[in-house]
Amino acid sequence: MSIRILAIESSCDETSAAVCADGKILSNFIAGQAVHEKYGGVVPELASRAHLQNIVPVVDMALQEAGCRLEDMNAIAFTQAPGLIGSLLVGAQFAKSLALALNIPLIPVHHMQAHVLANLIEDPKPAFPFLCLTVSGGHTQIVLCESPERLTIIGETIDDAAGEAFDKSAKLLGLPYPGGPLIDKYAQAGNALRFSFAEPRIPGLNFSFSGLKTSILYFLRDETLKNPSFVEENLADICASVQYRIIHILISKLRKAAVQTGIKNICIAGGVSANSGLRKALEETGRRQRWNTFIPAFQYCTDNAGMIAITGYYKYLAGQFAPLSVSATAKAEW
Ligand code: KG4
Ligand code: ZN
Repeated sequence: MSIRILAIESSCDETSAAVCADGKILSNFIAGQAVHEKYGGVVPELASRAHLQNIVPVVDMALQEAGCRLEDMNAIAFTQAPGLIGSLLVGAQFAKSLALALNIPLIPVHHMQAHVLANLIEDPKPAFPFLCLTVSGGHTQIVLCESPERLTIIGETIDDAAGEAFDKSAKLLGLPYPGGPLIDKYAQAGNALRFSFAEPRIPGLNFSFSGLKTSILYFLRDETLKNPSFVEENLADICASVQYRIIHILISKLRKAAVQTGIKNICIAGGVSANSGLRKALEETGRRQRWNTFIPAFQYCTDNAGMIAITGYYKYLAGQFAPLSVSATAKAEW
């Protein structure tokens, strides 16, 4: 019998639904929320309201694209944590209502574990054990993955996340939110070695990005005092230099983790893994270090329900269901 799972993701500002059958993603529908653009960041209350408006049509679209009906589903998976509580509650309540109405199991999923397991969606898939550098708007982690259920964080940021480093740098440059993809775009035409930003010295496998943000702030302040059009005239080179430093910090720690663990199957995941410079750097480092490297397809890097569906599938196989009393939480232990 085939196992069909409907998955719902609503942790931040994307409402998404996906259907998978036996671990194969049949649909992955994602609705973004333009309402936040003019505020320069996600406004939690507006995000919850947009999820409420989007959730029914998004689930309908995912079922339609997959050629399935609700009655064909064997379980409902949903993002239980971490995220914005109002946003998470919309997805959680919707998932619980569906599970109750259809009388099928409910599978709570940890958003960051799902980012990692997005690497198991398409072939070629990494063999266990593998390392995953998960880089998103709220997290930066190196995860040791021994099986779909055995994921251990072996390094993480002590302050800002890599995505925040991109977004905050973009804000300092006057770019709209989210700035990460824009820095990526402008960096492609820039000289990454033109401006040099210091590399933080953090022991072990942990990261820090707050110092970089401060040095960019002072650098821009000093240069703009000398030339008010400095940013405008040098945007591509500044973006390329900032991106270069962020990627260098990430890849250096990943190399250290690979040496320490002796693992050569190396993945990246999360919104920042959509960055073209990081993808290229992983491939180049992988060739030199003789790693087997894996990067999820673009649609499975930023927030999406496909990754919740694949994680839900493995949890289904392991019988990891939750009662209807389960609730969403903003923060959650691994
Ligand atoms: O995983 P994600 O979609 O949401 C969270 O769980 O946080 O990650 C969002 C982050 C944002 O900081 C965004 O700027 C960043 O991913 N991002 C990028 C790119 N695309 C998304 N950063 C750099 N380059 C990109 N191409
Ligand atoms: Zn995410």
